[in-house]
Order: sequence, then C-alpha cells, then structure tokens
Amino acid sequence: MTILSGITPSGRLHIGNYFGAMRQHIDMQNQGDAYYFIANYHALTSRHDGTLMRRHTLDIAIDYLSLGLDPSKCVFFAQSDVPQVTELSWILGTMCPVSLMEKAVSYKDKVAQGLSANVGLFTYPILQAADILIYHSDLVPVGADQKQHIEITRDLAIKFNNTYGGEFLRLPDAHIVKEVATVPGVDGRKMSKSYNNTIGIFDEGKELKEKVMSIQTDSTPLEEPKDPDTCNVFALIKLVADAHVSADIAAKYRAGGYGYGHAKKELLGLLEAYFQSARERRKALQNDEQAVLDILKAGGEKARARAESVMVPIREAAGILRSFHA
Ligand code: ADP
Ligand code: TRP
Repeated sequence: MTILSGITPSGRLHIGNYFGAMRQHIDMQNQGDAYYFIANYHALTSRHDGTLMRRHTLDIAIDYLSLGLDPSKCVFFAQSDVPQVTELSWILGTMCPVSLMEKAVSYKDKVAQGLSANVGLFTYPILQAADILIYHSDLVPVGADQKQHIEITRDLAIKFNNTYGGEFLRLPDAHIVKEVATVPGVDGRKMSKSYNNTIGIFDEGKELKEKVMSIQTDSTPLEEPKDPDTCNVFALIKLVADAHVSADIAAKYRAGGYGYGHAKKELLGLLEAYFQSARERRKALQNDEQAVLDILKAGGEKARARAESVMVPIREAAGILRSFHA
C-alpha cells in the first residue's frame, strides 16, 4: 500500500497542524510505503519571496524530522525534486473541465481571505492530483478540508484512464481521521495561521507562556465548579496529557476551587514536556542543514524514479514524444 501526503511550507507549524495532520503522517510511516513531500510549488500560489520560500521549506523539513519522521521508513522529499509532477499536472489540466475547478471551495475560500486570484491558485487541485497520482498512491492522509481535492484527483484519474483506454492511473482514497477534533486556538476559533491564534510546536520560554496565558476562558469565579468539556484550555490539555492526568484535571475543574490560571499553568508544563525531545532534536538539526538537504536529496531520487516509471506509459498513451531519458 502506498501512502502519500504533502505539506505546504507556508510558515511556522502550530499544534493544530501537529495533532490534525503531522502526527498521523508520522504514525503511518510504519503502515506501508509512505511518501511525504514539501509542496513548495503549491506554496508558490500565495508567496513570492524566494528567500522566505527556501527558509520555510528547510524549516518544515527540520520540523518533521524533529517530530519523528524517519527517512529510513518513508520517502521524504521536496515536490520540486520531481519535475514529472508538473508535467503530469499539465497533461491532466488539458482534460480537466473548467467547471470542475470552479466548483472547488478552497480557491473561493482563499480568494475570500485576500489571496490574489492567480491561475496557479485556481488550478491548485490539478497539481495536487498529479502529486498523488504520480506515485500510484492508495491512501492520502489529510484534514477534512482536503476531501474535495481527493475527489477531484479521482475524477481526473478516471478521465485520463477513460480517454486513453487503460488503467494508467490508480484511484486513491482519502484517509481522514474523524476523531481528531479541530484544535482550538487561543481565541477559541480553529487554530490557524490565518487567524493569528496559534501556539507553535516549537514555541518555548516567555513566548510559549504568554500564549498559553492568553487562552480565552469564561468568567466563572475560581471557587465555582467548571465544565472541562467547554474549556479551550482543557481541550489542549487533553491532547498532551496522559489519560489519567487529564481525568485528574477534569475532576479538579468539576470540584471547584480550581481556576483557569491553574489549568493554564498545568497546560504550560505539559506542553513543555510533550515537545521537549522534539525541541532538542530540532536544535541539533538546525545546526546541520546539510544533513537535512542530504535527506531531501536522497528522498527526491527515490520519488523521481517511481514517478518516472509511472510517467513512461502515460507519455506513450498520450503520444508525447521525448528524445531523452530522465
Ligand atoms: P492553517 O489553517 O494554519 O493555514 P493548513 O491549512 O496549512 O493550516 O493545514 C495543514 C494541515 O494541518 C491540514 O491537514 C489541516 O487539516 C491541519 N490543521 C490545520 N489547523 C488545524 C486545527 N486547528 N485542527 C486540526 N487540524 C488542523
Ligand atoms: N493542499 C494540501 C494542504 O493544503 C497540501 C498538498 C499538496 C497535499 N499536494 C498534496 C496533500 C497531495 C495531500 C496530497 O494541506
């Protein structure tokens, strides 16, 4: 079974990204042939600062490796190391009805958020389809917001297969973990870099403390009983504490005499402990960028070889002449 997912390098990662996506990716590297890549061409649809793009690409690679992604168990690479992806994206685009892109909600959402309405942003799902199809992926672990993109991917694979009369492209399934509730941000809305309400995975010291202390809570007085299940602080505690620790804290909420300030202090300690070893690994990797580049290079070579083997029959079916071998 081939598992594949992409991560857009568009800024510092937050704990919503970790519990909503990265943790699943890291767990799934043990369940099949996993391919994980940094979607830098996708990021280009909303950012045109070369220095920052390079920085974010490396940062996200360092983050993933620090959190437990193991390049001996999965293929980890940059999207741009597989030029066959943009080639397939073009071919798929020639058979994609404009109406299919017009139905895509993420384009409308992003334009509504103020991103510029460029053609790349409009055809973003075609590039994503190519990312998935080019490795014959079976399973794509993503957040619920990506469901439509996987459906578009299947539509395009069917279209290609029907047009050229063969099983050239495999139909993938989305893998969406329903139990992973949306992680709330410090203001109680969905944690998202667009809302400026995030707690970074690698935040520490004063910055982490200030963010945790700023989590919004209601005004129930300290001595009164509180409902942990409606509290943003407790929602985060549940993610980082062992079951018995969170049960103890829930009991303190319900008993009264326990304030939100106490809960925030516990959360701060739990967060520091939870990401402690990842933070240490990150510091080591930060000082060894070459090691990270080497990992991406090796992953890119493996991904390219697989992509090329899928592309050969596709070019042949479409009658695309090539006078060199990749
Ligand atoms: P952001 O909303 O900060 O821009 P992205 O859209 O880049 O985050 O999300 C990257 C991945 O992290 C996606 O798979 C998404 O489903 C997941 N994710 C982002 N925010 C959250 C959250 N608050 N709770 C759960 N998962 C999230
Ligand atoms: N669009 C995805 C996101 O915003 C990132 C992505 C790009 C992706 N290509 C992919 C995810 C292929 C899964 C498979 O999170």
